[in-house]
Amino acid sequence: MHYGGDYNPEQWPREVLNEDIDRMREAGITMVSLGIFSWSRIQPDEGVFDFEWLDDIIDRLHAAGITVDLATATASPPPWMHLKYPEILPVTAEGTTLGPGSRQHYAPSSPVYRRLAAELVSAIAARYANHPAVVMWHINNEYGCHLVADYSDAAAVAFRDWLRARYGSVAALNAAWGTSFWSQMYSDFEQVLPPRAAPYHHNPAHRLDFHRFTSDSMLELYLMEKEIIRASGALQPITTNFMGQSPTVDYWKWAPHLDVISDDCYPDPNDPESFRTVGGFHRDLMRSFAGGPGWLLMEQASGALNWRPANAPKAPGQMAALSMQAVARGADGVLFFQWRQSRAGTEKFHSAMLPHAGTDTRIWREVVALGETLAELPALPETDDTARIGLVFEYENMWALSGTDHPVGIDYMEIVKRWYAAFDAAAIGVDFVHPAADLTRYDLVVAPQLYLLTDAAADNLRDYVAAGGTLLVGAFSDVVDEQDAFLPGGFLTRLGETLGIRLEDFGGLVPAAEQGPGERVVRVVSGDGAISPFEGELLAEEIHVTRAEVVARFSGGRRDGDPALTVNSAGAGRAFYLATIPTTAATRALAPYFAAQAGVAPLIAELPAGVEVARRGSVLTVINHSTEPAHVRVAGKDIRTGERVEDPELEPFGWVMLRA
Ligand code: GLA
Repeated sequence: MHYGGDYNPEQWPREVLNEDIDRMREAGITMVSLGIFSWSRIQPDEGVFDFEWLDDIIDRLHAAGITVDLATATASPPPWMHLKYPEILPVTAEGTTLGPGSRQHYAPSSPVYRRLAAELVSAIAARYANHPAVVMWHINNEYGCHLVADYSDAAAVAFRDWLRARYGSVAALNAAWGTSFWSQMYSDFEQVLPPRAAPYHHNPAHRLDFHRFTSDSMLELYLMEKEIIRASGALQPITTNFMGQSPTVDYWKWAPHLDVISDDCYPDPNDPESFRTVGGFHRDLMRSFAGGPGWLLMEQASGALNWRPANAPKAPGQMAALSMQAVARGADGVLFFQWRQSRAGTEKFHSAMLPHAGTDTRIWREVVALGETLAELPALPETDDTARIGLVFEYENMWALSGTDHPVGIDYMEIVKRWYAAFDAAAIGVDFVHPAADLTRYDLVVAPQLYLLTDAAADNLRDYVAAGGTLLVGAFSDVVDEQDAFLPGGFLTRLGETLGIRLEDFGGLVPAAEQGPGERVVRVVSGDGAISPFEGELLAEEIHVTRAEVVARFSGGRRDGDPALTVNSAGAGRAFYLATIPTTAATRALAPYFAAQAGVAPLIAELPAGVEVARRGSVLTVINHSTEPAHVRVAGKDIRTGERVEDPELEPFGWVMLRA
C-alpha cells in the first residue's frame, strides 16, 4: 500500500527539506511524486540542465527508505521557452493565444514543444532509469485538465494529418461529415481547420472528430514520453494521473497504455452526496479502467481546496473515510496533493499533508493516523469480478451530446452518474463498461444513453442479449452512427429488433430549469403495479411496440397511455427500453427494480442514507459518510482485529472492513 503525496522540494530551502524527510518518516510515507512542476528548475535554459538538487533529494529520500514516483516535468514549460518559441503556446477557438504564467500552456501538436519535451524526458530518464529509489514514472500531469482543446496552427496541421489517416481521401471526409449541407464541401484537406469560432453552430461531425483528434494528440504526447523512458532502459511501471472521467481524453483508449491506472479525486465536502457521485464514481471508474484492483489514488486533499468558489475543510475523519473508500474499491495506494502546503503561488490555500499551521493540527494528526492504518492493513484481494452489473460509459457519446442542435439539451455525464449513484445507494456494485467490450460476465447491462452507436457496439449488445443477458437501453439511443449521422430506415435501426419496438419521435420536453410554457415532467405508471409510478424528464418518446411487452405507460400529458417502458425477449435474454429519462428520484427507485429483474441482489439489504458498501473480492467495506452514527445490518470478520462483527454502529466517518 503506497502512502504519500506530490513533493515539490524546489519550493523550499535546504533546512525545510531536511525536516521534510523526518516528518515523512513520522507520517509513514512510502512514496512521493517528485518533480511534476520542476521543468524551469531542471532546465533553466535550452540545453542547460541542473540535476544536482534532484540527485540530492532523491538520494536522501532513498536513504530514508522513501520511494519515488518520478515525474517527467513536462506539464508546465519554463519561461524561456515561449520567448524563444512562441509557437508552443496554445490558442483558443476564439483565436486568443494562451500565455505563460499559469500551467499547461503548451500546444500538444506543436513540433517544437514535442522536441523540447522529448529532450527533457530523455535527460531525466537517462539520469534516473536505474536509480533504486525510483519505483514509478509519472508522465506529465492531468492531460487536458485546463487545456481542453488547442485550435492553433500547429493543431490545424496535425488535425489534417489525423483526418488524412482516418479518411484517406477528401471524398471520404466529405461523405463522413455530410459536407453537402451548408456548402461545406472540401476539395483539399488543406482547407480544413479546427472548429474555430464561427458565426453559428459547427458541423457536429467536424466537432466530434476534433474531440477524437484532441484525445489522440495528447495520447501521442504521452506515448512519446513513455517510449523515451523505456528506451533509456527503465523498467519501472509508468503512469499519468487521470481525473475521473475527463472531459477531453478518452481514458478507455488510454488505459491499456498505462502500467498503473492512477487518479486525482476531489469530492466537495460541502456536498453530502459527493462521496458517491464523485468519490465512489471515480473509484469504480478507475477499477474498471484497470480491469480490477491495483490502481492508485494519486491525488486527493487532506482538507480544503483553493479552486472552488467555496472551499470547505473536510470534517474530522472524512479524509480517512474517503481514503478507505478508494482502498475498498481497489486502490493500492493513497496519495495527496501535496506533501507540504506551499508558501506562495496559486495553491497556497490548498491543504496538504503537512499544513502551513504545522504539526500541532488536526490534519497532521489525521495524516499520521492514516499512515498507520494503511501500514497495518492485511493484504487485500488483488482481483475482483464481483460486480454483476455493467454500466455503459463512453466518450464519443459524451462528446456528441455536448454539441448543439438536439431535441433537448442532455448532460450525458449527469445521466450516467445518476444511474451510478442509484445503484450505489441501493448497495448494488457496478463496473463501468465500454459498449463494445466483452460483457458476457454481467447479468445486467445498463446503457443509459447510446445516442451514438457504432456497429461494433450494436452487434455486441445484440449478442449479449441473445446469449442470455438482460439489457436496459435508455431513451435517445441508437440515433446516429459514428459520424453523428442518421442511418437509413429511421431510428433504433440496429437495436430495434432486439428491443421489439420502433421509434417515431423523441418528444422533447422543457428542461426543469427553463422558464416559459411547455411540458416538463411526465408521469409513468405500470399496469400491474410492479413499479411505483415515477417521473421522467427531457424526453417523452413516441415508440411503437412491434414485439415487446409494455411494462409501464405514460399517464397524462401529450403521450398519455403510450408505452414508456417495454421489455422484449430476444434469444436467451431480455431487453428493456425506457422511453423517457427518469428523474434522479425515479432512477433511485428504478435501479433496484432492474437489478432484481436480472437476479442481482444488493450487497446489504438495507443501506442507511449516507452509508456506502463496497466489495473488493472477498472483502466487504462499509463506510459511514454522514455526520450521524449509522447502524448497519451486516456481519463478518473484521480484517484488522480478526473478530466477528455483527450489525455494527458506525460513528460519523467510521468504517469497517469485513471478510465474509
Ligand atoms: C490537480 C493537480 C495538482 C493540483 C491539484 C489541486 O490534481 O494535478 O497539481 O493542482 O489539482 O487540487
